[in-house]
Amino acid sequence: MARYPKPAEGSWTEHFSHVGTGVVSYEDCISPEFYEAEREAIFRRTWLNVGRVEDVPRVGSYFTKEIEAAKASIIVVRGQEGRVRAFHNVCRHRGNKLVWNDFPQEEVKGSCRTFTCKYHGWRYALDGSCTFVQQEEEFFGLDRSDHGLAPVHCEVWAGFIFVNFAREPQQSLREYLGPMVSELAGYPFERLTEHYDFRADINCNWKIFLDAFQEYYHVPVLHSQEATPAARHLMAAGFEAPHYQLDGPHRMVSTSGAPRQTWPENYQYPIEIATRSGLFGPWDKPDLGDRLPGTNPGGIRHWQMDNFQIFPNMEILIWENGWYMKYTYWPTSYNSHRYEGSLYFPPATTATERAAQECAVVMFKEFALQDAGMLVGTQQGLESRACGDDFPLNDQELLVRHFHKSVGEWVEEYRLKSEGALR
Ligand code: FES
Ligand SMILES: [Fe+2]
Repeated sequence: MARYPKPAEGSWTEHFSHVGTGVVSYEDCISPEFYEAEREAIFRRTWLNVGRVEDVPRVGSYFTKEIEAAKASIIVVRGQEGRVRAFHNVCRHRGNKLVWNDFPQEEVKGSCRTFTCKYHGWRYALDGSCTFVQQEEEFFGLDRSDHGLAPVHCEVWAGFIFVNFAREPQQSLREYLGPMVSELAGYPFERLTEHYDFRADINCNWKIFLDAFQEYYHVPVLHSQEATPAARHLMAAGFEAPHYQLDGPHRMVSTSGAPRQTWPENYQYPIEIATRSGLFGPWDKPDLGDRLPGTNPGGIRHWQMDNFQIFPNMEILIWENGWYMKYTYWPTSYNSHRYEGSLYFPPATTATERAAQECAVVMFKEFALQDAGMLVGTQQGLESRACGDDFPLNDQELLVRHFHKSVGEWVEEYRLKSEGALR
């Protein structure tokens, strides 16, 4: 694995010279036309994480996922032989949405042996094949075997379920993830199955919230009240991350720091002492073994957390003290998106462990709300176009710069390909 030490001179950004140092445009977050281009060029062509294998624990377990950006609703289901598959959630008779409960737009989950359409009763097996057609003899030369559910490419990596809406994906999921992300495959994700999930509909472009989680320049300012008095003093000097890494369209940043409980004046809320937990997770670390493959790729001292951003819309944040978080950002229009955040821990074996996990969850929610609360204002500011189109980014905003560049490249490459195909 290549290492990317910060050069003795220069900056992180200059070290990755292909991302440039010039001002950037945020037109990609305020243009309805650009959003339409993203839908085709990115959300219908990249691998998208829709869940984890624990979400479909047994044969017949399923969930649906609404992916507006790809103009799709899908069913993810574990079949008879244990394989996880994905299908368009569309009946092959006359296109009715196949799986839903109270409201067609709402995602559902459950367990079954057969999917039955609510309209005329066609049935489908867990492998998508059509097994029953009401009054089949009244159709004209209908071959049921030609009318199975439309499949969606579905692959599993490290327990994460990904789908791809391309007719033929350009790369397998493994190839797409590249070496930096793939190294994480040995991390014991399968042991961290206790999860707490949040979702929020936010009135800003999906990339604006993602940006807020891929730089820590804002932390000492926006989250100043999260800091303990001692840390606030340190943070006044600003923040520096010790390691950044880019790999294709994917990117990561590591942070370092002393465990919270060793700081002087080491808590903000009494509940942190009572539960031995806080924003950075439970203080008492579960035993996950000596090696955590793929983490801390920069080999930094006092490693605390890695934030891996998997293109286009997924982040995995792995903490040194034995837990991780996953965020996904699902565009619903050019200026709105649905944010999903989950925190994963080893199943608690005592009430004390459970209380520690819940304290981390509550602290996370407060922290995320501080970020989310600002974003509508950012969207409005950008949409006013009052400041033109050139925004300066600093060295700590390297990943923001790389993200928007990657989005632009995917859109441009697809545009050129489409124009070439038309010619
Ligand atoms: S649309 Fe599903 S059975 Fe007719
Ligand atoms: Fe933040």
